[in-house]
Amino acid sequence: MNTSTLKGGSYDPARTTTGGLTGELARLEAQAALSFPEELRILRELGVTESSTLLELGAGSGAVTRCLRAALPGLTIVAVDIDETLLAHAEGTGAELVVADAADLPLETGSVDTVLLRYVLQHVPDTSKVLTEVRRVLRPGGRVIVTEVDTSCWGIAEPSYPEMAGIHAKVAGAQRAAGGDRSIGRRLTRMLRADGFEDVVLRPFATTNDDHPTEAFAPHLGPQRLEPLLAAGVLSFAELSLAADRWNRFRSDPDAWVMLLGLTAAGTSPGPAA
Ligand SMILES: C[S@@+](CC[C@H](N)C(=O)[O-])C[C@H]1O[C@@H](n2cnc3c(N)ncnc32)[C@H](O)[C@@H]1O
Repeated sequence: MNTSTLKGGSYDPARTTTGGLTGELARLEAQAALSFPEELRILRELGVTESSTLLELGAGSGAVTRCLRAALPGLTIVAVDIDETLLAHAEGTGAELVVADAADLPLETGSVDTVLLRYVLQHVPDTSKVLTEVRRVLRPGGRVIVTEVDTSCWGIAEPSYPEMAGIHAKVAGAQRAAGGDRSIGRRLTRMLRADGFEDVVLRPFATTNDDHPTEAFAPHLGPQRLEPLLAAGVLSFAELSLAADRWNRFRSDPDAWVMLLGLTAAGTSPGPAA
């Protein structure tokens, strides 16, 4: 594994959830397990096959790499991340692991069929720089596939708790202050077109507690992701207690319903930018 010490924009794995790095590794696994079946359906529709080469940019701990390997055993995967410690957890997936900045890849021009960026661009201050590099490494006709969220259409929960809106706004504000953007979902297709990708499409996908236990939504709806923001001075103890109370009410309500919305955008590369 090629090594260096770099940092992932507004993403800090040790401060993203309760329990530091260990907690974040568990969160990434749970997040991938929850929605991967829906994501796989879209990847197949977008032409990802076992005989192709997929570059997973910002692969993190390999949570999705493991899912991809299980679903498409023949797929050639190159997993890149800026964080060497996280990427070390992707050992054993059969992917080639490369520590690098997505904006400056040690890969040959036109060498991959598909580039997947899952929950990465929301942490990157200069997304255009990354997408230009993506165009370079994709073969002409190859596809970039970007999965993201948007704070304004993250989903629906019933019962809903309007008193949580201020807390959510503070979380988004903290990420913005660190150079990220949790409202990136609304810009995805325009970003891809602006960077020269063609045949741009958007494929939203939903995950609900009709198909999964409500408890499986804890990484998204529970207070674990908010606790580090107490130490950072973004949230008060009262706000954290409110969030914990509302999650406890929600999870113990047998009638509670939640649907999370993910946004996958894809575009075709005409070849490297001139
Ligand atoms: C929220 S995690 C998502 C990890 C993985 N894609 C998943 O879905 O489980 C974001 C990842 O992007 C990586 N990252 C952020 N900026 C990066 C950059 N400029 N180059 C490479 N990786 C980056 C982080 O280190 C982190 O592993």
